[in-house]
Order: sequence, then structure tokens, then C-alpha cells
Amino acid sequence: MNFENLLYEVSDGIATVTVNRPKALNALNAATLKELINCFAAIRDDEAVKVVILTGGGEKAFVAGADIAEMQSLDAVEASRFARLGHELAAAVEELPKPVIAAVNGYALGGGCELALCCDIRLAAENAQFGQPEVNLGVIPGFGGTQRLARLIGKGLASELIMTGDMIDAAEAHRIGLVNKVFPAADLMTAARKMAGKIASKGLVAVGFAKAALRDGLEMDLARACNLEADLFGLCFATADQKEGMQAFLEKRPAKFVGK
Ligand code: HXC
Repeated sequence: MNFENLLYEVSDGIATVTVNRPKALNALNAATLKELINCFAAIRDDEAVKVVILTGGGEKAFVAGADIAEMQSLDAVEASRFARLGHELAAAVEELPKPVIAAVNGYALGGGCELALCCDIRLAAENAQFGQPEVNLGVIPGFGGTQRLARLIGKGLASELIMTGDMIDAAEAHRIGLVNKVFPAADLMTAARKMAGKIASKGLVAVGFAKAALRDGLEMDLARACNLEADLFGLCFATADQKEGMQAFLEKRPAKFVGK
């Protein structure tokens, strides 16, 4: 696939999507958001892709936010439409039945932090910086930050980040559960590929069901969520991978999953 503002490559079942506007610290303009939406639609339909890594081009940034130069002159209706484009992308990432790992290699600010938040797992380089600096611009987060940040790290810490606009470093992001693991910058992509490769070796229907149960279940009351889990657990028994996985365990050999 060819894009103006993204790099895209697939190897060993792992797709790497790189937001690539390094001169603007990978800021998300409408064109880039649309390319990302199209890219994730193609990934959904490509059986060769099992796991996705999302990262930023250049040395400094994952994504430094929505494109301020483009946003500056929007009217209220256009701004709302722009926010909804971000929500459409977040939904495409969250509803993809394949895991998406954010490899945060620098600034993840505003819309960039929000993009990382809709991924399943966040890994960060030691030099990564996170923040929701929208109040510095007279606006609020608009790609889901008020919601996903509060759901991930709790309302109090989310309120502090969103109301002060402060940036936090990778160590602090790790401490508060915003990122899963932190690596020296030079090791980040190797670590992301290693984790992606490990997930790609599992029964991928089950991995997709786990993603759905985590995503949808957290929005339900516990009883309904456990019901959903039980239904999806049952559905796993309609797959060849369940038969292979359990048989391989009992035969004391590694499982050979087929993703069906
Ligand atoms: C457009 C951006 C940008 C952005 C950086 N650039 N961030 N352009 N939109 N979000 C551009 C700069 O204008 C500059 O272009 C080039 O990238 C390099 O940036 P510098 O500022 O020179 O780099 P540095 O001094 O190292 O500072 C890095 C930085 C700073 C701390 C990340 O760039 C910064 O504060 N950026 C804005 C971060 C932000 O406020 N993000 C939230 C946006 S609002 P030139 O042409 O001068 O070289 C948002 C809302 C989401 O995301 C919801 C929308 C609905």
C-alpha cells in the first residue's frame, strides 16, 4: 500500500504502520487521519497481517498532536467533524480483531497521546513524553482523550494531565500505568517486534476474542461482561486452534495454530 504520510510494511505477519511527517513531528492532519483509517481497513481484511505495530517516523516524535496549523482556522462545525475523524480512526483501531501495539518513540501529545490510548498495548522509549496540552491552545482533547485517559489511569490523574497540560516522561507514564514497558530508544522497535511475534504465534481467533471481551466488557456491568466472556469462551471451541492447542498441551508438544 502506498501512502503520502504513512510508511507501511509487513513481515512475518507483523504490519508496521509509521506516521511519517517528521518535519511536523508527525502531526495528524485530516489527510493523515484518512490514510490511517484506510490503512486499518486494509489491515482488517488482510489475512497475512496478524499483529500491528504503530509508531512515528524520525527520532523525536510518535505524534505531537493534531495539526495545529490545519486546525487553527476551522469553524465549530468543521472542528467537530475533524474530531469525529479522529474518533473514526480510534474505532478502527479498537474494533480491529487484531492486536495493535503502540511503539511510542518520542512526543505523544494531544491527538498523539490519544492515538496511543486507543491501541491495545503501549511500549515507550525512554525519551518519550506524554501529555494532553490542549488547554494551552484554548481547547480540550478531541480524539477521545477525556474518556480513554480517565478509563486507563483513573479520573484524578487524567484530570491533572488534561487540566494542567503538563508533559510527563516515560518513567512517570510507566508508573501510572499509561505505558506497559519502557526501553532504551534504540531497543524499542526490537522489543515491539518481539512482543508482536510472541502474540502472532498464538491462536489468533482467541486473541481477537480476548480483545473484544476486554474492549466491550469494560463498558458493561460485571455480570453482563462475564456473560460476554462466557459466550466468547464457548465460541473458541468452534475453532481448530482450540483443538490443536489443547491436544498439543496433552501431547507435550508446541501447538501449531492456523488462525481458524
Ligand atoms: C503542527 C507541529 C505540531 C502540531 C510540532 N509541529 N507539533 N505542527 N501541529 N501539533 C511542528 C512545529 O510547528 C515545527 O514546525 C516542527 O513541528 C518542529 O517543532 P518545534 O516546536 O520546533 O520542536 P521543539 O522545539 O522540539 O518542540 C517540540 C514540541 C512542540 C514540544 C512537541 O513542537 C509542541 O509543543 N508541539 C505542539 C504540541 C501540542 O500542543 N499538541 C496538541 C495539539 S492539539 P516548523 O515549520 O516551525 O519547523 C490536539 C487536539 C487533538 O492534538 C484533538 C483534535 C480534535
